[in-house]
Amino acid sequence: MKLEEIINLDKKYFMNTFGNRTPVCFSHGKGINLWDIDGNKYYDFLGGIAVSALGHSHPKLVDAIKQQAEKLIHCSNLYYIESQAKLAEKLVSISCADRVFFANSGAEANEGAIKLARIYFKKKGMPEKYEIITLEKSFHGRTLATIAATGQDKYQKPYSPLTPSFLKVPINDLDALEKAINGSTCAVMIEPIQGESGVNLTSLEYLKGVRKLCDEKGILLIFDEVQCGLGRTGKLFAYEHFGVEPDIFTLAKALGGGFPIGALCAKEHVQVLLNQETTVRPLEAILSHVQRHWQFWML
Ligand SMILES: Cc1ncc(COP(=O)(O)O)c(C=O)c1O
Repeated sequence: MKLEEIINLDKKYFMNTFGNRTPVCFSHGKGINLWDIDGNKYYDFLGGIAVSALGHSHPKLVDAIKQQAEKLIHCSNLYYIESQAKLAEKLVSISCADRVFFANSGAEANEGAIKLARIYFKKKGMPEKYEIITLEKSFHGRTLATIAATGQDKYQKPYSPLTPSFLKVPINDLDALEKAINGSTCAVMIEPIQGESGVNLTSLEYLKGVRKLCDEKGILLIFDEVQCGLGRTGKLFAYEHFGVEPDIFTLAKALGGGFPIGALCAKEHVQVLLNQETTVRPLEAILSHVQRHWQFWML
């Protein structure tokens, strides 16, 4: 198809939520280069907004996807999955985390972190702790909870009223954070380096101070490393620059190099309560599925 035809088709059928697009349509890429459908070659300095960390069409990534697709594309979480266990082990071996949960995107990984912080306190018998404090100018995703966590009006206004229970404080202001922490606070969620409203760095003293405050107040510290993690800052994880370890951190983007995957990485003490009561027993799950859908099965 010609570019004009693609644009017309897109304008007629695609639900564009992202604003005006550059009138270019790429057909393929290799390493740092992209080619459009007219054969023009480009240098890709955007990298899919921190996604294409290995460049385009990296042979190892392509091969891994091909090999897996030929074997099994989906497997329910009701069963053990070798590659899931191995990737979790790998992430644990290179980070401060002890446990990993996988999602499909950064927003979902952050939703998982929010849910984990809440359930952590529920299981501890403290259901009154459910509020999350985040930073002004932050970005945590485009789901309803993560836009509420995000500290930017432009993402929030169109979808108000927002999901409640997210408070915002200015970056690098420890006093403001201390004042905002209250009996309902369960966690503080921070990008060590903000990437979606300019590049805004948290200072060394600030992050160390946040860690200390969280420890003193008995609340969890979550780092969103969806954009700043996985080697983008010269270290594998941004938290390594600060000598501060979070209780939970999230990854996505570069983790799949374009393949949709996110990860929520947590310390053992955060996840340990989760195993009680929440374990899915495969046989029970299958039976309850059959019970719920038996009319359909009988047709
Ligand atoms: C810091 C941060 N968190 C979360 C997200 C959301 O990730 P995703 O687009 O994979 O849902 C982004 C995306 O830009 C991000 O930069």
